[in-house]
Amino acid sequence: MKVALIGSGGREHAIAYKLIDSDQLEKLYILPGNAGTARLGENVNLDINDNSSVLQFCKNRNIKLVVIGPEKPLVNGLSDLLRNNSIKVFGPSSTAARIESEKSYAKKLMKKYNIPTADFVEYSSDEYSNAIGYLKSTTYPKVIKANGLAAGKGVIICNSKEEAEKTLIDIFKNKIFGKSGDKIVIEEFLVGDEASIFAITDGEKFETLPSAQDHKRIGDNDTGKNTGGMGSYSPAPIITPKILGEVEEKIISPILCTLSKENNKFIGCLYCGLILTKDGPKVIEFNCRFGDPETQSVLPLLEGDFLELLYSAASGSLNAKSIKYSGGSSVCVIAASKGYPDSYKTGYRITGFEKINDPEIVIFHSGTKFKGNILLTNGGRVLGVTSIISENNITEARNKAYNAIKKIQFTDIYFRRDIASKAIEAK
Ligand code: AMP
Ligand code: GLY
Repeated sequence: MKVALIGSGGREHAIAYKLIDSDQLEKLYILPGNAGTARLGENVNLDINDNSSVLQFCKNRNIKLVVIGPEKPLVNGLSDLLRNNSIKVFGPSSTAARIESEKSYAKKLMKKYNIPTADFVEYSSDEYSNAIGYLKSTTYPKVIKANGLAAGKGVIICNSKEEAEKTLIDIFKNKIFGKSGDKIVIEEFLVGDEASIFAITDGEKFETLPSAQDHKRIGDNDTGKNTGGMGSYSPAPIITPKILGEVEEKIISPILCTLSKENNKFIGCLYCGLILTKDGPKVIEFNCRFGDPETQSVLPLLEGDFLELLYSAASGSLNAKSIKYSGGSSVCVIAASKGYPDSYKTGYRITGFEKINDPEIVIFHSGTKFKGNILLTNGGRVLGVTSIISENNITEARNKAYNAIKKIQFTDIYFRRDIASKAIEAK
C-alpha cells in the first residue's frame, strides 16, 4: 500500500524507519520530511497545516493510509477531512485531540471518571482576581499550566506565592502563551519518577509499547529550561509489569472507554505522561500522538509489522499480534545546537557519520537538511543518536550511544551527558 507520513522531526524519521520494514509497503511519502527520511521514502515539500492540499496530494497518489506525527495537524482537523474522504488515518479526530490541546478538557474528563491525576482548579483570564485570591490562600509548590498548546513550554512549577503571582501576570496580562494562556489549570505538585507509555488503539482495543523516559530539561541533572526533549531510553525499569497492569486498568482503559462513550473515539497513539507517586501512577499529561524523542528509542525495539499495527488501528480492528517486544534496550541522545531552546544558529556542516561503524547505532534526524550532498544543521534539535541492543542492559546501551555521539561533529554541538543515568542508578 501507499502511505503518507506527516511531519519532519526525529519522531517521523523513527516511524519511517519502522514502516519501511513492512512487506505491505509499496511506497512511502513523507510530508515534508527531513534529510534522514529522504533515504527511506520520497519527501514531499507541502504545507502540512493546509488540509486541502494534503487531501489533494493523497487523492492524486492513491494513498491508502496517512500517519500523522505532530499534534498541530491533528488539532487542525486533518484526520477528519481525510476520513470524510474515505482515506484511512492513524491519528485522532480534532475533537479527540482535545485531550492534548485543552488541558482543562482532559482534567475534567479524568475527574469525572476517577482517573488518577493531580488535583486541580482552573481559571480564565477574566477571573484574574479570583485566581490571585486562590494563589494567596493555597500551599506550595503548585504547577501552573496554560490550557492550550504551547510547544512543551506551557508548564511552570511555582515554589512560592510570589513566583505564582508573577506567572499569572505573565500568562494573563503579558500573554506569554498568547491565546493558549486564556485559561490556566493550577495543579497539585506530584512527587515521583516520570515515565511515558504509548498505547496504540483503534478506539476500543489497545496495545501498549515498551515504556520510556524522556529528559525534558536542557541541562544535566534536570536543570535549566524545558525543551522538546534531550534524550530518552526504553524500557523504563520503573515500569514493572505490575505498574503497567495498573496503568492499563486504571488509566488507559477507562480514558479510551470514556472517550468512546462520549462519542469521541480516539484512534491513534495515546501518549500517557505519568508520575509514579507513593499512591500509584498518576497522569501528568495525555498527548494525542507519539512522543518525541521517546519514539526514537521505543520503536526500534519492536519486532514484527509496524505498518500492519497502524493500519489495523486506523481500520477499526487492531491487530495487536502484528508486533511484539521480546527484550532489548535502547538509548537516544539528542545532539542539539548550542543556544537551544532559545536562539541558535543553523547551517553548519555535520561530519563524523562514517566513523561510527556500529550496526547497533541508528541516527535519527530531527533538524537537518542537505545542500547538494552536504549535510547541514537545520534546527535546535539536530540528531538523535540511538543505540539498539538485544540484551536488557541500559548501561551498555547508554555507553554505545555516547561512544557514537562523540564521533559526530558540527559547530556548536551540545548534548546532555546524563541520559539514562536515572535508569542505571535505579538498578
Ligand atoms: P508537561 O509539558 O505537561 O509534560 O510538563 C512538563 C514537566 O513538568 C513534566 O515532565 C513534569 O516534570 C512537570 N510536571 C507537570 N505537571 C506536574 C505536576 N502536577 N507535578 C509535578 N510535576 C509536574
Ligand atoms: N516527549 C514529550 C512530548 O513529545 O511531548
